[in-house]
Amino acid sequence: MIKMSRRLDLMMQELKNTNAETFFHSLRTKKLVLEMIEKTNSHGLTDYSSEEIDCICKGALLHDIGKLQVDNFILTKETYLTPEEKEQVQEHVEYGYNIVKNELEQSELKIVTDICRYHHERCDGSGYTGMTDLPMYVNIVAICDAFDSLYSDRIYRDGFSAEKSMELIENSACGGFDEKLVKFMGEIARNLD
Ligand SMILES: [Fe+2]
Ligand SMILES: [Fe+2]
Repeated sequence: MIKMSRRLDLMMQELKNTNAETFFHSLRTKKLVLEMIEKTNSHGLTDYSSEEIDCICKGALLHDIGKLQVDNFILTKETYLTPEEKEQVQEHVEYGYNIVKNELEQSELKIVTDICRYHHERCDGSGYTGMTDLPMYVNIVAICDAFDSLYSDRIYRDGFSAEKSMELIENSACGGFDEKLVKFMGEIARNLD
């Protein structure tokens, strides 16, 4: 069961009303994350407790909450973004971090804030800031986030097939991911098309 503060609940509602694409992407990302953790836990790559899994799922649900503070004109633009607009979009990770950090129990603080702040980092250093030393739960949310972003319809393009989305992930089109996670993502993707 994922418990949220009243304020976070209201903010998720606001996201649904103002940017449904991001809201539903967050729900799908959370679902993929749960499937991924079932694999990583059963193969011994991780050993997350049910409390930790709840925190990671909460982070997945909230990972893009900072987009509430990005100009909706930019988020709903159907054409390519200018470099300045891209920079504004990238700010959503810090906005998100600042939103959630005061709304969490001490026991969930690190996992949820790490996910909001670092889900666009990549373990090969090709992410927003180039940091590479990332907790596995951040890598898990990152690959599920990237996969859903490719696979789903966006305002500016139709979604790719699961097969094509996986090809892009394998070719590091969205940056490099942990090899084992790429393999597990492939298994999840095969059940989607
Ligand atoms: Fe994001
Ligand atoms: Fe996302």
